[in-house]
Amino acid sequence: MTVVDVHAHVFPEIGRAESRLLTGRDDGPWLRTTDGHGAGMMMAGGTEYRPVRRTLWDPAERVADLDRLGVDVQVLSSTPMLFGYGLDSERAADWCRMVNSRLLEYAAYAPDRLAPLCQVPLQDTETACALVDEAMRQGFHGVHIGNHLGDHDLDHGALTEFLTHCAERDAAVLVHPWDLPSGPRFSRYMLAWLAGMAGETHLTILSLILSGAFERLPASLRLMFAHGGGSFPYLLGRADNAWHRRDLVRADSPHPPSHYTDRFSVDSAVFDPGALRLLVDVMGAERVLLGSDHPFPLGEEHIGRLVRESALAPEEQTAILGRNALAFFGLAPLVKEAVR
Ligand code: CO
Repeated sequence: MTVVDVHAHVFPEIGRAESRLLTGRDDGPWLRTTDGHGAGMMMAGGTEYRPVRRTLWDPAERVADLDRLGVDVQVLSSTPMLFGYGLDSERAADWCRMVNSRLLEYAAYAPDRLAPLCQVPLQDTETACALVDEAMRQGFHGVHIGNHLGDHDLDHGALTEFLTHCAERDAAVLVHPWDLPSGPRFSRYMLAWLAGMAGETHLTILSLILSGAFERLPASLRLMFAHGGGSFPYLLGRADNAWHRRDLVRADSPHPPSHYTDRFSVDSAVFDPGALRLLVDVMGAERVLLGSDHPFPLGEEHIGRLVRESALAPEEQTAILGRNALAFFGLAPLVKEAVR
């Protein structure tokens, strides 16, 4: 059985001067790697953002982790603070190209184990589409995007245009929450991550459904959401009830929300056997993919343990632990190479 983890982050080594030069800002993201003991610090300008492990920027360390944890392949995304969606279009394109080239270098350490996703300047649809084309030719396995752009959710015209382009180019799309709710109520106890991320993802999935965007998007689009789809699967019944009972809710969607669960996938990062069971009941085992959020502390430390130790049928476990991901991200050729 091939084990594939589809939700994992890289923060390539980017210095402060380089960040300043490319972003034109003094508060841009960079990585301080001189903290010693294999630790580093994600920085926003002069402000310490989050302490991180060496795995985040060192591929040798990453592969050692994967070996220790019995993971064959990891699908790599940049860290959402690197998206660059706040930059003007030209800077954003250069920034994304730089991040993408670092991701390729990182993955080149073990091309049969590390499968990178590109990032694109979502604020500029034309360039974002061009960068997807470029990236797919360069060997990326899809694209990693944030779940919204300012006040626009993924159902917004320019963003559905981008998603349609991804479908046409056969580029898988991983959606990660970013730009989380803020303010004093969210800044305590990592509540922006614990409650905000779940709500953000829920909001984006419902926006796509209730706007009727799935009626317009190609059925071939391979779209997935991190963190088990946030609070969406748990509260799907609430959304269905609202669709049936309020014309405000069903104005733009010809079917209730539960009709659309075959249009996207989710990862398995829910940290509880009961939650995983519910997720598989709602989405189907073929639409849940092992995702850990490695190497961040809020991720699954023993990647895959929740699925392996669950009461799910062996067939369901095999699908979630790797088979679904091989198809979703087109990884079969890479794995075959490794076996050969
Ligand atoms: Co993540």
